[in-house]
Amino acid sequence: MTLTTHPETPIDPFADRRWRETSRAPHIEVAGVEVSFGAYTAITGIDLAIARGEFVSLIGHSGCGKSTLLNLMAGLGRPTQGTVQVEGQIVEGPAADRCMVFQHHGLLPWLSVYDNIYVAVDAARRSHTTDEKAARVERVLQAVRMWDHRTKKPGMLSGGQRQRVSVARAFAVAPSVLLLDEPFGAVDALTKRALHRELVELSSIVGTTETVVMVTHDIDEAIFLSDRIVVMTDGPSAGIREIVDVPIARPRTLSDVMHSPVYIELRDHLLSLLGDDEPR
Ligand SMILES: Nc1ncnc2c1ncn2[C@@H]1O[C@H](COP(=O)(O)OP(=O)(O)OP(=O)(O)O)[C@@H](O)[C@H]1O
Ligand SMILES: [Mg+2]
Repeated sequence: MTLTTHPETPIDPFADRRWRETSRAPHIEVAGVEVSFGAYTAITGIDLAIARGEFVSLIGHSGCGKSTLLNLMAGLGRPTQGTVQVEGQIVEGPAADRCMVFQHHGLLPWLSVYDNIYVAVDAARRSHTTDEKAARVERVLQAVRMWDHRTKKPGMLSGGQRQRVSVARAFAVAPSVLLLDEPFGAVDALTKRALHRELVELSSIVGTTETVVMVTHDIDEAIFLSDRIVVMTDGPSAGIREIVDVPIARPRTLSDVMHSPVYIELRDHLLSLLGDDEPR
């Protein structure tokens, strides 16, 4: 697409691309990927290179294959054809440097909120002292406003609270690649906005998560958080329809996005790529 920028405030689409300075090699590389389940081909012909430090969203209608693609990056599925590489290595299974927040929260139901996070931090940070790990757990629970609920089990929480704990756990572990499958799907609009702020804040507190890939159905969320938005076609045999650049410097506030001269055009373009309606 052609983006019209305001003549007095030209926007450099690459102004805040940390990755351009740090590395040319892709952090995640998906090449010629196809995934079939028996006779059903879910996705095909997927080529996508994601640079270190990028925030990339995957968007598309329900059932098009977003979770399937994200699962490949997490090592939770294998392509029928093609390759997925992270750090130049073929992904053959899950690893501590890649952490997934699932579409359905994935917390351990028998552990408290606190222990769900502590166990994950403990596994990922073997060399840290008990005090350091406890401090990390407290910091992320405070950031998502769940510290007061730390003794509860997941079954005692609301859907939005569970998702906040899942996001906090992922950031406490701070993997270099963070994979988010509709992390805010079950939260109301106001909580979602607060969580977006917290996600931006958490990433700056913890500081070791470099690259994020997020599945979302929410166009505004994708624009607010992403460097690039990958729009998928409908399945079967879904592919990439277009990769849309978000030329607004990160980190951004909601006001930066709303007042950006490209916001309306980006939004309209994404809506037209997805059909006339918001994605299901
Ligand atoms: N294990 C499986 N066996 C058979 N078909 C599968 C399997 N996993 C996914 N599929 C099919 O592959 C397609 C893509 O599924 P996927 O879960 O990736 O969609 P999605 O884009 O994440 O959808 P949603 O937005 O609803 O979460 C769907 O048609 C689904 O039915
Ligand atoms: Mg999905």
